[in-house]
Amino acid sequence: MKKYQVLLSLLTTGLVLIYSCQYEEIVQPDVPHLDTSLTIHFTDTIVPIFDQAGCLNCHGGNISPDLRPSQAYDAIVPQLVDLNDPDASKIYWVPAPASDHAQKYSASQAALVRAWIVQGAKDN
Ligand code: HEC
Repeated sequence: MKKYQVLLSLLTTGLVLIYSCQYEEIVQPDVPHLDTSLTIHFTDTIVPIFDQAGCLNCHGGNISPDLRPSQAYDAIVPQLVDLNDPDASKIYWVPAPASDHAQKYSASQAALVRAWIVQGAKDN
């Protein structure tokens, strides 16, 4: 009888541990795994983010940087990117999800912007 109780409590502890591990996995932020061999295009992927993330409400010509499609590249490169240290690029960290900027990227948008900088911040 005692052996059975010990076994039962071990089993219960095990189940609790397994469930707590699963829970931690669920609350991980939604940062997608990016296939870095895929080229991120400025025009097709980065420019639409500025509209989707609501940046144009302020950066639509009045407040620098001007992120409208026709102006965005010249407003960002080279002044807001740091090719040697992509994390230090203002276009990445100022509106990053953890920042206190007026409007922020989602985790996946931030990952795309960062990957585009890592790939050389090209006008592609
Ligand atoms: C409600 C208005 C507002 C929105 C929306 C907004 N910004 Fe800003 N942003 C500002 C203001 C004001 C500044 C300048 C002062 C500051 O840094 O807070 C600024 C500064 C910046 C800077 C720094 C520029 C520099 O030269 O130092 C970057 C980069 C930037 N914003 C990017 C973005 C992006 C990308 C988005 C969309 C995710 C965005 N902002 C949304 C108001 C806004």
